[in-house]
Amino acid sequence: MNVVIKADPKAVTEFACEMVRERLAHDRYRVLGLPTGGTPVLLYQALIASYQRGEVDFAEVITFNLDEYLGLEPTHPQSYRRFMEENLFSHVNIRPENIHFLSGLPDDIDEHCADYERKIVEAGGINLQILGLGRDGHIGFNEPTSSLRSRTRDKTLTKATIEDNRRYFAREEDVPRWALTMGVGTIMDAHEILLLATGRNKADAMKAMVEGPMTAMCPGSVLQVHPRVTVVCDEAAAAKLDHDAYYRWMEENDYRMQGFLDEQRRRVESN
Ligand code: F6R
Repeated sequence: MNVVIKADPKAVTEFACEMVRERLAHDRYRVLGLPTGGTPVLLYQALIASYQRGEVDFAEVITFNLDEYLGLEPTHPQSYRRFMEENLFSHVNIRPENIHFLSGLPDDIDEHCADYERKIVEAGGINLQILGLGRDGHIGFNEPTSSLRSRTRDKTLTKATIEDNRRYFAREEDVPRWALTMGVGTIMDAHEILLLATGRNKADAMKAMVEGPMTAMCPGSVLQVHPRVTVVCDEAAAAKLDHDAYYRWMEENDYRMQGFLDEQRRRVESN
């Protein structure tokens, strides 16, 4: 896990935006997995600005969103489909047929989820999966106790998640209790993962995810065994990490490694 600690959400956004831009341009990534929620809003704004400056092109990009509330139609003001339309899709040149979403009103949940998995495979798999982190350690809507090998399916949300989502709904009884979500195993199949975490209320989950044991009680902790994960967080979310000095040290020194190696090679060759 590569843990990058930045001063504030603005700096987290700049880092994440640069990474997405670079992957789309240079590594020719095409398939993105996308989260909703408060955390990625700044990233989506930065990507829109980048697109407007001609720095990033979504014409060939294919997206799969992580999750959707059960019971909400795509045009519902609180649906994740609508969220994505308002916060990213309607502002960039992504092709509507390249946008993939779980339905909030599927005829057959199991068949619909299996079909979503098939579509991800048909697209060639997810190149870069972007994630947020729940206060309870969830990724997607894989709540604590989710199987670490789970696939796309329905999930009952915890009371903590329902409370967190309360701010988006007029009445408590309107907050959905169930969602469809990519499974932990589905997320783990992505070639590369970028997780964003900001704010003090994520500090416990960050500690458990990065430095705790790998456990279904903190589904995000499974990312410890993924070979290409970058966690970018602000100081507030990093506040409870014990090894923060090492993560900072790593960031300070990583980019120096290639130069050092080149220098040493030249030294050996000239001897
Ligand atoms: C949403 C999702 C969730 C959120 C998480 C954090 O698509 O997958 O896992 O990323 O609940 O939400 P925020 O960013 O609102 O704190």
